[in-house]
Amino acid sequence: MAYSNTFKNILIDWYEDHKRDLPWRHTVDPYKIWLSEIILQQTRVVQGISYYKAFVTKYPTVADLARASEDDVLTLWKGLGYYSRARNLHYSAKFIMEHHDGNFPREYKDILELKGVGKYTAAAISSFAYKLSYPVVDGNVLRVISRLYGITDAIDTPAVVKRVYALSDTLIDKDRPDQYNQAIMEFGAIQCTVKSPNCDNCPFFDQCVAREEHLINQIPCKAKKIKRKSRFFHYLIWKDGDQTVVQRREDKDIWQGLYQYPLIETENIKVLRAADICKDYKGIRANQVTVQNISDVYVQKLTHRDIHTRFYHLLVSDIQLVIKEEYFLVDQKKVPNFALPKVIDAYLS
Ligand code: ADE
Repeated sequence: MAYSNTFKNILIDWYEDHKRDLPWRHTVDPYKIWLSEIILQQTRVVQGISYYKAFVTKYPTVADLARASEDDVLTLWKGLGYYSRARNLHYSAKFIMEHHDGNFPREYKDILELKGVGKYTAAAISSFAYKLSYPVVDGNVLRVISRLYGITDAIDTPAVVKRVYALSDTLIDKDRPDQYNQAIMEFGAIQCTVKSPNCDNCPFFDQCVAREEHLINQIPCKAKKIKRKSRFFHYLIWKDGDQTVVQRREDKDIWQGLYQYPLIETENIKVLRAADICKDYKGIRANQVTVQNISDVYVQKLTHRDIHTRFYHLLVSDIQLVIKEEYFLVDQKKVPNFALPKVIDAYLS
């Protein structure tokens, strides 16, 4: 606490010397800052830059984003994964048009109300665009502050998060909250990193409790891991000449709004036979299907789930035999153009 008066100055000086030149640091447009923050929730800075540029080029204003179709927004998001973030962006753009006359909200509480915007993102937008003094607290900030103060309790507990918010309120530069917030995130990203913090060249060498007490590797400490569950997906790549079928995921489940091959989900990792597949279809028998190829298992790790996926290449004499109401008949070469779950995208490329 003794260094709270100078902490901000030292930190911002460090930032001025070390900051990366990133495109969203050249704007105070809250819409563009919001875009950048949502993209950066999903990916690292290096990959985020090209997505940010693509979004601000195609949708330079919130009105442009609101007018877009959800399919187009999801397609531009392709490759980032976790498409609900893109859906929330689109939803919130329309919300801003309807409830804020197309003007990005200026108050923290209104920004926090946007779907997909939590306390961290609301603080980032409020400070970068409007210089409002709300500290950002994300994984980087939790690590930096818990090391500085020697907080050995788990950082993923409400008590520690609350404490770090309280400390941040005393540390933030109220005249330069934008600079302070950028600086502390940058400090966590490139100086006080998880695995190899640059303690020897750290401006807080003398003040940092974790360094002084040899606790750098123990801080931040995390509470127990969440138990992971597995799901088993079998994608059916039906083929009749150039044609295949895809469907849109409509259920309230992962990957809502994305396109996929017809899916059978099972409770375990077994390999399906033609007879198992035909049970899912009226009017086709196993001897009308040729199983050309069954892929290896691909595993996609989501936050709490591992998705185990196999692809089945199935020849059928007449694609109409396997058409269901919710399927779209498409040229096989066009499938990569759809907004697809990452596992399908990767399989096709
Ligand atoms: N990560 C999240 N927000 C960021 C920002 N504004 N600059 C750099 N990295 C970030």
